[in-house]
Amino acid sequence: MSGAHPGPPAGPRPAPEDRWFTRRQVAAFAAVLAMAAALGTAAYQTGGRLAGTGGGAVVTAAAGSPPDGRALYAASCAGCHGPDAAGALGPALRASAGWRGADFTRAVLEGRTPDGRQLGAVMPRFAAVGLDGSAPTQAQLDALHAYLKTLP
Ligand code: HEC
Repeated sequence: MSGAHPGPPAGPRPAPEDRWFTRRQVAAFAAVLAMAAALGTAAYQTGGRLAGTGGGAVVTAAAGSPPDGRALYAASCAGCHGPDAAGALGPALRASAGWRGADFTRAVLEGRTPDGRQLGAVMPRFAAVGLDGSAPTQAQLDALHAYLKTLP
């Protein structure tokens, strides 16, 4: 009974992994951090590019350069009136391209033709739905009208 081994310390012995991170855990943690940093950088760069595009558009609009009638038409009208305004779901816009500016504007904004006819409900009332994400401006309507006049 002499020379007894020292007993275990009183109280629960902490498991080794509770005391400190193992080498493996530290390495794994570092790898995750590195990956997060890489992803974060990529996301940041993408965001910067997107923000750059938006900023450019805002600057262009703010600088007062005229709206692009062709782009407006492609984005907001071509789906129904056809890529060349030759007609699809909606009629060809040859005739209306020749309307006076105020008449064309009223048709696009309020859906009313020069002879007082209400256009069918399929034709959006752009005063209500907006053009290019915001309330249509006269400059946009003029640009659209001018673009339609260039079509053969
Ligand atoms: C969702 C489909 C749709 C979209 C988008 C659309 N239109 Fe129309 N549009 C129509 C339809 C359908 C008519 C015919 C309605 C009728 O005659 O009752 C029409 C009629 C018109 C007319 C009257 C033509 C005429 O000779 O009577 C004009 C002008 C017109 N659209 C311009 C535009 C412009 C400009 C845009 C884009 C800013 C546009 N439309 C977007 C469906 C659309």
